[in-house]
Amino acid sequence: MQHTTDFVVDPGGSLRGEIRVPGDKSISHRAIMLGSLAQGVSRVSGFLEGADSLATLRAFRAMGVEIEGPEEGRLTIHGVGMRGLKSPPGPLDLGNSGTSMRLLAGLLAGQGLELELTGDESLSRRPMRRVAEPLARMGARIETTAAGTAPLRIHPVEKLRGIHYELPVASAQVKSAILLAGLYADGETCVTEPAPTRDHTERMLRGFGYAVRREGNRICLDGGGRLSACDIDVPADISSAAFFLVGASIAPGSELLLKHVGINPTRDGVITLLRLMGADIEVIDERDVGGEPVADLKVRHAPLRGIEIPEELVPLAIDEFPALFVAAACAEGETVLRGAAELRVKESDRIQVMADGLRVLGIEAEPAPDGIRIRGGRLGGGEVLSHGDHRIAMAFSMAALRAMGTIRIKGCDNVDTSFPGFAGLAAEAGLKIEVHRG
Ligand code: S3P
Repeated sequence: MQHTTDFVVDPGGSLRGEIRVPGDKSISHRAIMLGSLAQGVSRVSGFLEGADSLATLRAFRAMGVEIEGPEEGRLTIHGVGMRGLKSPPGPLDLGNSGTSMRLLAGLLAGQGLELELTGDESLSRRPMRRVAEPLARMGARIETTAAGTAPLRIHPVEKLRGIHYELPVASAQVKSAILLAGLYADGETCVTEPAPTRDHTERMLRGFGYAVRREGNRICLDGGGRLSACDIDVPADISSAAFFLVGASIAPGSELLLKHVGINPTRDGVITLLRLMGADIEVIDERDVGGEPVADLKVRHAPLRGIEIPEELVPLAIDEFPALFVAAACAEGETVLRGAAELRVKESDRIQVMADGLRVLGIEAEPAPDGIRIRGGRLGGGEVLSHGDHRIAMAFSMAALRAMGTIRIKGCDNVDTSFPGFAGLAAEAGLKIEVHRG
């Protein structure tokens, strides 16, 4: 993809008012996947109309599923049943979306279809053996490149067999891939996770009537069951809300209400970490929405201090570190992160790319193989590179609230993968952001 969109953000301002950020990306992907395999019609509201979840939607359409919409976040999915998917006319192009590729590898491994999964340049660099290997142990035939990357070629097999798998990394995508393959496997499939990771797959499977057992850190299901259609109200994405939680925390005069945000305990590390840094975040009117906890979040400016990030919180805030690094740059003292090597294999190498950008802005940032050390200070202006990573682009946009000069962020096209309309919504709240299309 050619990167032609830059964000140019003038310094200062505050974030105020009431906003609702777009739907949760993880839940949107899973709604399409399970809705497509269910028997009956599932209605989805609050669906994220971002490039990533739309890639999943297109993939299922290409496999013969009738999906109406999206129209203002509403979808109607006419489920084809567990065995109803058809051969697509060509490769399934999943764009920038790691979640689509890894979950589909599992879900499609036992369909008896010949399939090819492709992605963009960034996705084609990301590690896929982490799913291909455990799926092979289940009897799947999935080819990667010699480097263990996409394209993935899935060949038909007679049968999958259940496995008991210990995840070597705390990854919800790998866990989900194995559980989704397990739906098609003989016997029991169990995944043990080294630390809690997002559990939307397990929650949604239960919502579709599929029994999932959890004992401690082990999650099990039996293959051969069926999914029954259900309606899904997708909450606003806490990973998108995170940019505003940080922006309002660092910008004096801010007071912002974020509506209907998913606060699943496997995703709420950003709230815990910002509070440890001294942030003023109120969780209002906590409620259950279709099996997922949801609340409004009120955030006010507060002085932040640097912290040592507790390692057990890393998986619970895995996508929020670009934003948290900006909070750290605006905090008093040092913030230290360890045990987060996974950040190096996200849409970009988020440790290096954030360190480079923060240094451009005059902040001391010292990367380590599995983390970073950031000393809070005065942010200057300058030009930073997003490396095509949506969350890097949005994180540096918020940094301008506390910068002394204009920040230009290069290559922001991929913001649309998770947060279409980010610049408009941020401007509405008070960020001095302009979109420059080259
Ligand atoms: C996701 C899991 C996480 C996360 C990604 C979405 C999911 O990835 O970073 O944005 O929806 O399961 P890992 O499982 O690789 O940590």
